[in-house]
Amino acid sequence: MKKLLFIVGGLLLGGALPASQTLTLDTAKTKEPISPYIYGQFIEHLGKCVNGGLWAELLEDRKFYYPVKDSYSPWSVATDPQWNTGPYMYLSGSPWKVIAPRNTRGAVTMDTTHTYVEDHNPDAGPQIGQVIQPPQAPVLHLRPNGDVGISQECIQLTKGRDYIGHVMLSGQNFSGTVTVRMLMDDLAPRVIQTITAAGGDYQRTDFKFTAPADSLNAHFEIVGRGQGDVEIGSISLMPADNIHGWRADTVVLLKQLNAPIYRWPGGNFVSGYNWKDGIGPDRDQRPPRKNPAWKGVEPNDVGIHEYMDLMQLIGAEPYVSVNTGLGTIDGVSAEVEYLNGAADSPMGKLRAANGHAEPFNVKWYAVGNEMFGSWQLGNMPLEQYVQKHNDVAKAMLSVDKNAKLVAVGAADNRNGWDQTMFKICADYMNLMSEHVYVKEKLDVVAHVAQLADEIRRVANAHRGFRQSIPELQGKDIRVAMDEWNYWYGDYLYGELGVRYHLKDALGIAKGYHEFFRNSDIFYMANYAQTVNVIGAIKTTPTAAAFDATALPQVLYRNHFGTIPIEVSQQPTGDLDVSAAWTTDRKAITIAVVNPRSTADELVVNLGSTTVKDQSTQWLIIGTDPDEYNEPGKPQNLTIQEHSVNTSGGKLAVPALSVVIYRLDLR
Ligand code: AHR
Repeated sequence: MKKLLFIVGGLLLGGALPASQTLTLDTAKTKEPISPYIYGQFIEHLGKCVNGGLWAELLEDRKFYYPVKDSYSPWSVATDPQWNTGPYMYLSGSPWKVIAPRNTRGAVTMDTTHTYVEDHNPDAGPQIGQVIQPPQAPVLHLRPNGDVGISQECIQLTKGRDYIGHVMLSGQNFSGTVTVRMLMDDLAPRVIQTITAAGGDYQRTDFKFTAPADSLNAHFEIVGRGQGDVEIGSISLMPADNIHGWRADTVVLLKQLNAPIYRWPGGNFVSGYNWKDGIGPDRDQRPPRKNPAWKGVEPNDVGIHEYMDLMQLIGAEPYVSVNTGLGTIDGVSAEVEYLNGAADSPMGKLRAANGHAEPFNVKWYAVGNEMFGSWQLGNMPLEQYVQKHNDVAKAMLSVDKNAKLVAVGAADNRNGWDQTMFKICADYMNLMSEHVYVKEKLDVVAHVAQLADEIRRVANAHRGFRQSIPELQGKDIRVAMDEWNYWYGDYLYGELGVRYHLKDALGIAKGYHEFFRNSDIFYMANYAQTVNVIGAIKTTPTAAAFDATALPQVLYRNHFGTIPIEVSQQPTGDLDVSAAWTTDRKAITIAVVNPRSTADELVVNLGSTTVKDQSTQWLIIGTDPDEYNEPGKPQNLTIQEHSVNTSGGKLAVPALSVVIYRLDLR
């Protein structure tokens, strides 16, 4: 084929002469409007999504879940054979190293009798079978002639940036000095704070620090010298620009991501989560727990109040998943009352005492997560689960009759999970949840098609259920695809922290097209997940960036129309087209995914609908399907915007791209 250079919306590209084909659209043939909830997100307490991603805390295990020991071995290595990932490291012991004079052992011991962290569980107890470890705190047994303390390494700092923190200390017969300091590469240690008095009760000391240099391996230390004992209840260190504890750079990206709704707190996590561990006005007193479903430790710094704060900060709606695994019916109804009950209800009173008198007005709830799977905590046979679903749902509705409930679904479960759920529980759900994850396929066209194929399969299954299940007659129970994504490759950003590529961005775009084509079935979809963990955003401790899959989300949320126009015949060449009117019907938007390395051209025929010659084009494009972005580096993949001439209905479709055109009516 003849090679030439051609101009696409101001871009000069080298490639083969584009093929041209006609796309005929009957603009009067529209479908059910696209639900805004299709652009939802999901955040789970897992890996570096919340802690180490969204939340600004820089210290690991700041409340001493793991005992600080003379022997130091904090990391273990794991692989995830199901997802074929390479090895990744996770914290399996204390990240705090003991500092003590040479040949001294036992200078730091652990105490469980006088801790600042509280154990919420003795009277909270909505969990079945949860293993509870009592809170503990390190005690520094001071010496007059040498430092005794604890140190955490691998703290990443940025030159000139301000950091804030605090430490909760209590002393027993203490006299001397406790020093908070930072050691940065070959610079002299920086003393951040000196404390000379500590009584028996825990007292908070705040400190501030400006990093004198960049560092990838600063050591944060608390050391004492003198006499008596000093006990460390908790410590915190965050960049000073954090917004109520949330990372400022990540919040900026969340705002740009512009998702309308966030599912939280899991995922598998929720089936072992005790929501009462995450409340209480003083985060330092909330108990750290082993993450019940995953590898890490859950500090419980982020709970209901913090999540609601984030939702407010970024203008998104909450979608709370509740624990139908190890959780109990009473535990769930108490949670709903805590969220939405009046300030004089028992749980509403507790919420008010914790600083939020007004109900949070949560509307959407996921009733459980993947309860069909053997991996799910509290997994039980379907016959038993349908009963539990109904009991939980009734209890939730008796607290809040307006609650909208999303039931656990699995359209592909050969034991007929969805069918039985619909038969027994149809009166106690508003939506049915479905999840799809796909791996990598070496052929790019096949790789890009996978999610759309899965979404279509689920849509078809649900059309079938509507026909065949009598209990669904007269009902319109749509689907919440509340987890969907690619999941493959090495965990570069912690547990499940896979990297995404241009080809995945194209697959997400095509996935959206499938949701739009089935807008009568899909009411909600939540891209899984938001930060680091199979995430649209990737972070290091000092930088945050959109990964490839964030880009189509931003693109479609911001620029695609809301009233789908039927595309009766897709063009050839593996192009995937979606078209929609804007809400005000002043423009038609046409999106095309091209997974091939050859450019195309569509000549769009809109019948009697006439549009202006000058259009806006938004484009995600690369030259290699494996192109990606990394935090802290120049971005290879972005959304480009161009004003282009589309007279004669000619829409350029560059190779390896997703492109949206906005054609304004004349
Ligand atoms: O998103 C990661 C995990 O995938 C979720 O916790 C679980 O629901 C699904 O299996």
